[in-house]
Amino acid sequence: MQPQDSTDLTRVGPGTLMGGFMRQYWLPALMSSELEPDGDPLRLLLLGEKLVAFRDSAGRVGIMDHRCPHRCASLFLGRNEDGGIRCVYHGWKFDVQGRCTEMPNVPPSQDFKHKVRARAYPTAERNGLVWVYMGARAEPPPLPQIEANLIAGGEIWCLQRECNWLQALEGDIDTSHVGFLHVGSLEASDLPDDHPMRPTVLDRAPEYEVANAPWGTMYGGFRPNDDGRRSWRIAHCMFPFWTQTPNGVFATRAIARAWVPMDDTHSMLFDLSGGVDDGNPAYISRRRNGEPLFDKFRRAPNTSDWTGRWRCADDARNDWGLDRAAQRSGRHYTGIANITLQDQAVTESMGPITDHGFEHLGPSDKMIARTRRRLLQAARDWRDRGVVPPGAEQPELYFGARAGSFLHDPAASMDEAYAAELAHAVRWNAPAPA
Ligand code: FES
Ligand SMILES: [Fe+2]
Repeated sequence: MQPQDSTDLTRVGPGTLMGGFMRQYWLPALMSSELEPDGDPLRLLLLGEKLVAFRDSAGRVGIMDHRCPHRCASLFLGRNEDGGIRCVYHGWKFDVQGRCTEMPNVPPSQDFKHKVRARAYPTAERNGLVWVYMGARAEPPPLPQIEANLIAGGEIWCLQRECNWLQALEGDIDTSHVGFLHVGSLEASDLPDDHPMRPTVLDRAPEYEVANAPWGTMYGGFRPNDDGRRSWRIAHCMFPFWTQTPNGVFATRAIARAWVPMDDTHSMLFDLSGGVDDGNPAYISRRRNGEPLFDKFRRAPNTSDWTGRWRCADDARNDWGLDRAAQRSGRHYTGIANITLQDQAVTESMGPITDHGFEHLGPSDKMIARTRRRLLQAARDWRDRGVVPPGAEQPELYFGARAGSFLHDPAASMDEAYAAELAHAVRWNAPAPA
């Protein structure tokens, strides 16, 4: 990759190409459960901006620049009370839209609160996720119809990764690592016959088809199945930073993962899922001998620091808990016992921002290469010609994306197999046609 392409893709602050591109979209900010009415304000680092988030007495969420517009004291220190956040320096108070509602250190005759605004961003909440719009449009677009976020009672969890958003995201669309990083020391005989990871263990170098999609890019890994059908594993990248990985059950399960840049070197994963699993999800199931495939990862307690939320207890400081004896014995190919931590270790080990000049991409990386190209093209089309970014104003496009595995007639192309399987998949809360 050219140095300019690398810079353009990885930098997300105000005024950067990708930062501007991402600000055309609604962004996941935090989980609804992180904010209580009149509860403690939260430091929130998003696209390199230091923000404060709070829920007011009426339950509305405010997200704004953490600096008070009077003399820049941090509103994180503020009092969240009676329908707004009050700066503790001179008592100015702001509602969730950033309007200054009280200016108690100024005599009433000189009050100019109607002229002052905190820099607040529009927010929205849907099924446990708080969204924020940091773009310039006075009227933000509708929320994207991402299926996993349309399911009431769906699951959400977060995890911070200490690296640039792009390399974090690319772990999800790098399919060929699964047969090594996660199950490299397993034989097919270690797994039950119907185990969804069996095809991966039997064939660690499957073929891929990669394509542009209305929401970004998609790929299908395919292998022959014993019964004459073709085994497909379908996955997506949905702009600007969402993925759907192929490990679930295509017919009944909706998932989505957002790799939201906190700044250039910290990212927050939002993992959303809902619908019906088959009771045998690939990664939490057991070996033939009954032992679990992976252990759970340990979380560090949250702190109020800018990068204090949803961290792993194991990180670069202890080599992600790497156990060389477990690596040598084959207990775990990596010596790291948890699948999420395995991903965390390799992507953080690349450094805070991958030096793309040092890479040698191969045929197994064509989804990564295509996604980078399409992202760059879309971002430059937006910047140079005002082309609306894919999906930014067409929320319904996202509902066309579903990932997972299925078996299909080997004569069908990826497009044909995907369309046919999607047509009889169980969909959750399909949006009404426009
Ligand atoms: S700095 Fe916030 S009220 Fe003065
Ligand atoms: Fe992985």
